[in-house]
Amino acid sequence: MEALRTPSALSSIHIPTSISKTQFTKHKFLNFQFNPVPISTFSRKTQSKSKLFTAMPSSPSFVSTPEPELEADSRAEKFDWYAHWYPVMPVCDLDKRAPHAKKVMGLDIVVWWDKNETSWRVFKDACPHRLAPLSEGRIDQWGRLQCVYHGWCFNGSGNCNFIPQAPPDGPPVCTSKRACVAVYPSTVHHDIVWFWPNTDPQYKDIILKTQPPFIPELDDPSYIKITGSRDLPYGYEVMIENLMDPAHVPYAHYGIIRTRKPKVKGDREGGSPVEFSIKKLDRDGFVGDQGQFGINKFIAPFSIYAHSSPVVDPGDGAIADAEKVSIV
Ligand code: FES
Repeated sequence: MEALRTPSALSSIHIPTSISKTQFTKHKFLNFQFNPVPISTFSRKTQSKSKLFTAMPSSPSFVSTPEPELEADSRAEKFDWYAHWYPVMPVCDLDKRAPHAKKVMGLDIVVWWDKNETSWRVFKDACPHRLAPLSEGRIDQWGRLQCVYHGWCFNGSGNCNFIPQAPPDGPPVCTSKRACVAVYPSTVHHDIVWFWPNTDPQYKDIILKTQPPFIPELDDPSYIKITGSRDLPYGYEVMIENLMDPAHVPYAHYGIIRTRKPKVKGDREGGSPVEFSIKKLDRDGFVGDQGQFGINKFIAPFSIYAHSSPVVDPGDGAIADAEKVSIV
């Protein structure tokens, strides 16, 4: 996701994942922002001295050797991967008429719209009857999630309230706890559906205690927000590491994206020492300062916030790359 401070840049940006709220691709793991389009496409169209915005991969954080006390802090407490909110999908990429299968943190989940409670629901993607994937079922006329196999129906609380094969005058099988679906806590935040990866009832109201990361720019109307997601053939941790590695950007992306001209030109333009200092480091992430390249923030376990200042062409003073904030 990217927040751009301009009213005029939208028409000049071409990100295959999404520009408007109706153009998204499916993703497999988490909500990543990408820009595989050559940056030259953007920069040509955005050359002006006023409002210039490009969408380049956020390149936060080349982690320099931390200060000793910072390193000690980071080891103080074990990180609990399953005690955090995780983004599932942008709301605009979800069809309310059908259940959606997702795999996040190795968990198979189904996301569906509960029209009776006007809320997105996240369930374990397994029917309590014979474990059929509920994502292969449907939303019935009453707004219930109905299993594809024998037709059991579930409400937004995960309770079974209809079993087609159960005789009306028989025992109350629907009320059995064993007929309930495991429900994950979920919420909508920054127009994204998030879930808490633990179905234990003690976390039912976890949203009252902790919320997903808040990114002020995403709620700031002076920014344009671009949301996208994409399937990747590898785990998100690989992508996160890549995005936290700014040293490779001017070299590996040379000629593909606009980068600042190095003070000292090497055998291949772009590769150069990276200015970077850690301002904060603990179990929950870090804040890095890349000097003129901006501020990077890693919010464990998956969010990267990168703020960069405008790039000014030393030749004519034109702004070649505008202020931008990237959130992954
Ligand atoms: S497996 Fe879902 S109703 Fe039988």
